[in-house]
Amino acid sequence: MKNILKLLAVYYIIFIHIACKKQDNKPPNLQECNPTPYSLEIPSYFGNNDTVQQRLRNNPLTVEGVELGRHLFYDKILSENYTISCASCHQQKYGFSDPHRFSLGTQGIQGKRNSMALVNLLWTRDFFWDGRVKTLEEQVLHPIQDPIEMNMNLQEVLNRLKNSPKYREMFRKAFCSDEITVDKLSKALAQFVNSLISKDSKFDKFMRGELFLTPNEREGMRMFQTHPIPNRVRGANCGDCHFQPHFDGKDFKNNGIDSIYQDVGYQAVTNNPFDIGKFKVVNLRNIALTAPYMHDGRFNTLEEVLEHYDKHVKLGEFTDPLIMEASNINGGAPRLFLTNLEKQQILEFLHTLTDTVFINNPKFSSPF
Ligand code: HEC
Ligand code: HEC
Repeated sequence: MKNILKLLAVYYIIFIHIACKKQDNKPPNLQECNPTPYSLEIPSYFGNNDTVQQRLRNNPLTVEGVELGRHLFYDKILSENYTISCASCHQQKYGFSDPHRFSLGTQGIQGKRNSMALVNLLWTRDFFWDGRVKTLEEQVLHPIQDPIEMNMNLQEVLNRLKNSPKYREMFRKAFCSDEITVDKLSKALAQFVNSLISKDSKFDKFMRGELFLTPNEREGMRMFQTHPIPNRVRGANCGDCHFQPHFDGKDFKNNGIDSIYQDVGYQAVTNNPFDIGKFKVVNLRNIALTAPYMHDGRFNTLEEVLEHYDKHVKLGEFTDPLIMEASNINGGAPRLFLTNLEKQQILEFLHTLTDTVFINNPKFSSPF
């Protein structure tokens, strides 16, 4: 009798187990939905800091999500009159920037800022030249709605996507649900942008010990990273603001390009008068490909950029102190007094940041 009871108990437990399992099951059409984690190749010297970890936790990259994001990035369906896509202003061959000083939106209207290069943004925490947006998921929705860019309302975007069998299928594969929402749209776009990692430039290969830099490139790198001390050490102080390995900065800085401000930059975000003319210290990866330069694309070449830092820094009330006091000659600030050879060496170093693997990577190219 005892044994029979025991047996019944065991059957009962198995029965409950099966019943519960049945309840857990997803509806039949979603049963096979199981997005594949997307593996990012991140070199050790990039650092895997908290910001990166947190961002990947909030929006984990999947193969299906990145692929959906890539389609959306290259699709003109996101613009009012089907004329432009994200890729119109962020072109792969120019390091995901635009060679035009000001890009044209759907209405043929120009913006007042230069299109930004999209690369290694996983390590960024503020977006746009003035840092007015704090997450990439929020950022990617701005150009869609901006009247001088894609000029769309989000409801219309969702309607178009819902009417597309291809997108319905892609959203389902990426997010395991038929429902297409703004949240999923932004997550997919952000996943693609996050996957745009450049790590195969000559500089990277040097960092990994795979090759040597030429003596000029090495000296250019040293100059780039060194704050000058007259009569002791020569430097160009770039590394005071542009930090390795992406050559970007966490703080907003005024690099002395203006004394009268057409565009107040970061001040519009903080309302702090001391922030006038401060802009994001953008990263310099692929910089030789992303001309023109600065928030308003005022410089056409890297030579012009160097001329600015060498001799045209505006000694203003708000210019960054690190630039104001930098010079290779006692009492010479804010002029650096770089020699022609030194400028040449810095330029050669900046060219080591060009990553041809990145700009030709088919994973980042148009799927159409
Ligand atoms: C008409 C041109 C244009 C289009 C289309 C466009 N962008 Fe941009 N993008 C810009 C400009 C200009 C900026 C800088 C704007 C500013 O700072 O005010 C920018 C900035 C960005 C940034 C910020 C980068 C950083 O370092 O902070 C991201 C990310 C971005 N765009 C992604 C996208 C995505 C995704 C799309 C498509 C949904 C898109 N862009 C469509 C011109 C464009
Ligand atoms: C005080 C901080 C600071 C120093 C020092 C500095 N920069 Fe910058 N850099 C910035 C900021 C801020 C921007 C963006 C400014 C803007 O758009 O108005 C910038 C922009 C640039 C750009 C244009 C990027 C683009 O995508 O348009 C280049 C190139 C550049 N810097 C190179 C250098 C070099 C080379 C040096 C050294 C000679 C240097 N920087 C020194 C802060 C600095």
